[in-house]
Amino acid sequence: AKLLALHGPNLNLLGEREPTIYGRTTLAQIDGALRAGVEAAGHGFDSLQSNAEHVLVDRVQAARHDGTALILINPAAFTHTSVALRDALAAVEVPFIEVHLSNPHTREPFRRHSYFSDLALGVVAGFGEHSYRFALDAALAWLDNHAS
Ligand code: DQA
Repeated sequence: AKLLALHGPNLNLLGEREPTIYGRTTLAQIDGALRAGVEAAGHGFDSLQSNAEHVLVDRVQAARHDGTALILINPAAFTHTSVALRDALAAVEVPFIEVHLSNPHTREPFRRHSYFSDLALGVVAGFGEHSYRFALDAALAWLDNHAS
């Protein structure tokens, strides 16, 4: 099966961006670890980071026809703002897991609402770079049970 990782705005700055909140690990390192884990399990991997909402919407739409079985997504700030990205995920009906490095519930009140969580298979948040590892574990288990 194919797993797609989507990374929202400002995550290209991981490693240097507010390291006390988001850690020192870069997005390239996170994607590298995801790819290694996915490929070791015999699946395919693709990833995309964008600061532009429409680019992420277009990639989700493409997932409908490119064999993507599951999406891991950290919508970043779009978590709290993007009806468009939510609607795209609802439209394509590809199951997804929502991931955050920080725990948004411990931060500013505006981060407590997510446009994605009620549609997600599950949410992993608060474990820094390890959030992605735990989400990958959940994704691989889900693929074992659901994808052919
Ligand atoms: C984030 C949390 C969001 O509130 C924030 O806008 C981000 C990153 C996280 O991974 O902790 O950009 O999604």
